[in-house]
Amino acid sequence: MIDLKTDEEINEMRQSCQLAAEVLVMIEPYIKPGVTTQELNDICHEYILAHGATPAPLNYKGFPKSICASINDEICHGIPSERKLRNGDIVNLDITTILNGWHGDTNKTFFVGAPRKQAQKLADATRTSLQKAIDVVRPGAHLGDIGAVIQNYVEPLGYSVVREFCGHGIGRNFHEEPQVLHFGKPGHGPVLQKGMTFTIEPMINLGQPHLKILQDNWTAVTLDGSLSAQYEHTLYVTANGCEVLTRLDGKTDF
Ligand code: MF3
Ligand code: CO
Ligand code: CO
Repeated sequence: MIDLKTDEEINEMRQSCQLAAEVLVMIEPYIKPGVTTQELNDICHEYILAHGATPAPLNYKGFPKSICASINDEICHGIPSERKLRNGDIVNLDITTILNGWHGDTNKTFFVGAPRKQAQKLADATRTSLQKAIDVVRPGAHLGDIGAVIQNYVEPLGYSVVREFCGHGIGRNFHEEPQVLHFGKPGHGPVLQKGMTFTIEPMINLGQPHLKILQDNWTAVTLDGSLSAQYEHTLYVTANGCEVLTRLDGKTDF
């Protein structure tokens, strides 16, 4: 069953979503060659607590840290560590807050130092695919329309869509129904209704779509070692379209 949120519930959930978005803005200046992902984790952790919220990843199904930090060929669920970021790396930071019981979930791919052309193009395409998907979200559209628009945009560019992870309903729970696939067919799947809240979070690989999970049981990496990029927003289906709950008007670039 897909839970429909009331306008009042959305007012509360929006606060959490906006805080998660603020964390991504706050952390950007710290992302430089030489910083460790543990240091980035700790700065985000303290900021979230200082704003009356808690970081949802910490201890979620045993995840040991407060944010996910996924570098280069890491697709998602990278565990912050003493690894130092290097010039030319790309790093995705995925932030999920819980504020007054409501979750807000957003992530972004950052460039460390000077962006490499290939990485820049991959990240741009991933961000554009997310925006194209957001543009089709309205009551009456099908869930499959979202995946189709992402797949039909990135595959002709030579990129591939990760199949094993998807977007998800979100609210009082981190992950609820429905599953939001990033590939699919238009007109397929459940019909969208006002009050639904879910994420869209395409993971797009430069090479093949296949992945493996590292020995830490969390980090997903591309099987062929190619770069992977991701962007994520939390959305609310409104009467005639959608609201991007994790977008900070005027302050963010996605
Ligand atoms: N934030 C991720 C998502 O977008 C989930 C992370 S689960 C964790 O769904 F345990 F790794 F934190
Ligand atoms: Co998510
Ligand atoms: Co997330």
